[in-house]
Amino acid sequence: MLAVSGEAMHNRAEAKENAPVPMIAPLPYARTVPGAQPPYLHAAYGSTVKRAPLRPPIRLPNTLSEVTGPRFADGWAGANQVDLTRQHKGAPLGERMILAGHVRDQDGKPAADTLIELWQCNSSGRYTHARDQHDAPLDPNFSGAGQVLTDAQGAYRFLTIKPGAYPWRNTYNSWRPAHIHLSVFGPAFATRLVTQMYFPGDPLLDLDPIFQSTADAEARALDLALRPEPQRGRVCSRLPLRHRPARTRGDAHGGMR
Ligand SMILES: [Fe+2]
Repeated sequence: MLAVSGEAMHNRAEAKENAPVPMIAPLPYARTVPGAQPPYLHAAYGSTVKRAPLRPPIRLPNTLSEVTGPRFADGWAGANQVDLTRQHKGAPLGERMILAGHVRDQDGKPAADTLIELWQCNSSGRYTHARDQHDAPLDPNFSGAGQVLTDAQGAYRFLTIKPGAYPWRNTYNSWRPAHIHLSVFGPAFATRLVTQMYFPGDPLLDLDPIFQSTADAEARALDLALRPEPQRGRVCSRLPLRHRPARTRGDAHGGMR
């Protein structure tokens, strides 16, 4: 019978503890569906002519740090701000609306604990931002910013007011259709999607180069607040927001331009 000394057992335990942990290759994020995202260069949207890269992008593999975090579930991004109608003393002017839906990945799986940020102008079409100086009035009871973490089913819900249209300098006398800006992080920073939602029936949609820059009609439909339905006497719009890992569009249209 073999006897194992205490020192040998200790050495074995130490060796086991110090053994290299086998690395599991991180799963890369799915690439975007061709046509579902707007191109970098869309001539009708004047700013993309200045912003679009002149050379083809270099495709990099996802690294461990990109596919593992950071996570939002621990709340470091701050508290949810889902009611934009109660951020000040009084109620903001405008048509109140509920914006609710689910964030899902390309396979339809819910994206839980993902951070959604929302920003919009007020009902007169004016942003609370130093760069927005057009002559619509500011609303002292509306800031136009909110954020929420999706629940286990990927669901989110905001209470806000319908934004107004506003002029921009893309071309002479051009106006943006009513829209709400959204940033969706997905599972990590590397999968951030910055997008906008619109309202069905807006006559400005056909003239809007940003909305029209998405060639895929189905993808454009996802930018619309679909299936309006009454809820407690208010207009309730459900946006089936589908998260596609995508390039970040930076400050695209975050204001007057
Ligand atoms: Fe905007």
